[in-house]
Amino acid sequence: MAEKKMKEKKLPKLGFLYLDHVLRFFDHSNFRGWPDKIERVVYHWKNDKARFIREVKRKKIDVLIGNIPATAYETFREIARELPDVQFVPSLDTQFANKSKENVTRFAWKYDIPVPKTYIFYDKAKAAAFIEDTSYPKIIKKSYGPSNYGGYFVHKVESREEAKALFAQKKYYPQYLQDFIPMAADVRVMLIGHKPVCAFWRRPPEGAWLTNTSQGGTMDYMDVPKELLDLAVKVSKAANAEYWACDVAVGEDGKYRILECATAFAAFPYIRDWIGQYLMWKFSEGRFPLPNIPLFNWEELGKMDSSVLRTLRHITFGRYTPSYDGAYFLDRKVKKREEGEIFLHELDSLYPMLSTEERDYEEWPSETWNFQDNYGKAVKQTETKESPEPFDKEGSDESGESEASVPLIEKEEIKKVLMSVKGIGRKKAEKILEKYDAPELVELLENAPKMLKKEFVWFKKKMLRELNEVWSLFKNRL
Ligand SMILES: Nc1ncnc2c1ncn2[C@@H]1O[C@H](COP(=O)(O)OP(=O)(O)O)[C@@H](O)[C@H]1O
Ligand SMILES: [Mg+2]
Repeated sequence: MAEKKMKEKKLPKLGFLYLDHVLRFFDHSNFRGWPDKIERVVYHWKNDKARFIREVKRKKIDVLIGNIPATAYETFREIARELPDVQFVPSLDTQFANKSKENVTRFAWKYDIPVPKTYIFYDKAKAAAFIEDTSYPKIIKKSYGPSNYGGYFVHKVESREEAKALFAQKKYYPQYLQDFIPMAADVRVMLIGHKPVCAFWRRPPEGAWLTNTSQGGTMDYMDVPKELLDLAVKVSKAANAEYWACDVAVGEDGKYRILECATAFAAFPYIRDWIGQYLMWKFSEGRFPLPNIPLFNWEELGKMDSSVLRTLRHITFGRYTPSYDGAYFLDRKVKKREEGEIFLHELDSLYPMLSTEERDYEEWPSETWNFQDNYGKAVKQTETKESPEPFDKEGSDESGESEASVPLIEKEEIKKVLMSVKGIGRKKAEKILEKYDAPELVELLENAPKMLKKEFVWFKKKMLRELNEVWSLFKNRL
């Protein structure tokens, strides 16, 4: 009887939140077995807010699932306010860290999460004074824009002269600096319901400091320390995240510090299946079972080639029962810890998969926390809000899954695009490429092409129009 009642309980209406030009993290195949239709709503950028809201209402969606890229984040905070009865998953508050490195830092500061010491300036004079006085080396990062672009927007400076030269050339805003942390490696941990489901080491090439594997580093899955997983769990809980990825630096001083965290990350399809299953459990109040994902499963799955991992779907594990043959590796395998050895199934039970908290308040309202637009009005951010993100987070990550899909555009290619505009010859194209390297120019073309007019006196309005056209043609062929 109780069971019947459960079955009759109406399930919420789910919808996928998609954006033009942005890779889709989920689709129907990740929600296998969900009995009802799952709607889809696509955001088309430019002035699409009102239409998007109407469509969500018309489709009577209760839960809107999907990652929001950095450049759409503030718009979606507004959209979410106008749809108070729609639950965004992950919530806009959970996705706060997706927007910028600045937001990651502010989130970490609030929750006392260890991060490299970080300095953020909106005031150029204050930054200049700091650069004069501080010690070196320092790390300088672009806060906003293509995140996880393989360290491309992360620089190490050895002196105040280098710092000044870099900011003069790059014009990053806000000015975001960090103490340089000598580190042996970092670990990416992926979590579902605050339970680690995958983790791997990323090690820099000999003598280098960047751990991004696209820079020649290597990755492996073995013996991630429990204490490091514990930190990732703490961060996931602080973000109230249904799913989450965290990059934890392992310093030469033995300390752990968070480098990045977000709901948008590259994940093998079987991990997205697990997230789908977890969300189905959450929205059905238990009618669908939680996925059983034993801790350190990644040590076993990681033995497979990534080309295999990319094709595996809907992986399930048997639950642990003593003396049952099919009990998987959990009673065989033993983990060494400082306190002695522990069976994997015992360790596993210390990491339950948990539900997230339902909240009816905004933790990070933009009036307070959108420093970029509140203080940076004069800069190009005003324009970026309504345009597509230059590189999809999922597509430009470096987990080994999606490295190849980074839309790396060669200098020569983009030069050709520039030169195909009437009035831009070789000389002018080269002038532009002296100022911006290829990824930066791509980003500019996507987000703030008008900047070109401001930067180069000879850049005419007509050129801008034509460049926008050839650029979008070129992009569609990529
Ligand atoms: N404060 C730091 N000290 C030393 N190395 C750092 C620091 N911050 C970042 N790195 C290195 O640079 C890499 C890229 O930085 P990250 O913040 O992850 O930016 P990205 O978005 O490019 O991945 C990291 O994986 C790490 O190897
Ligand atoms: Mg990174």
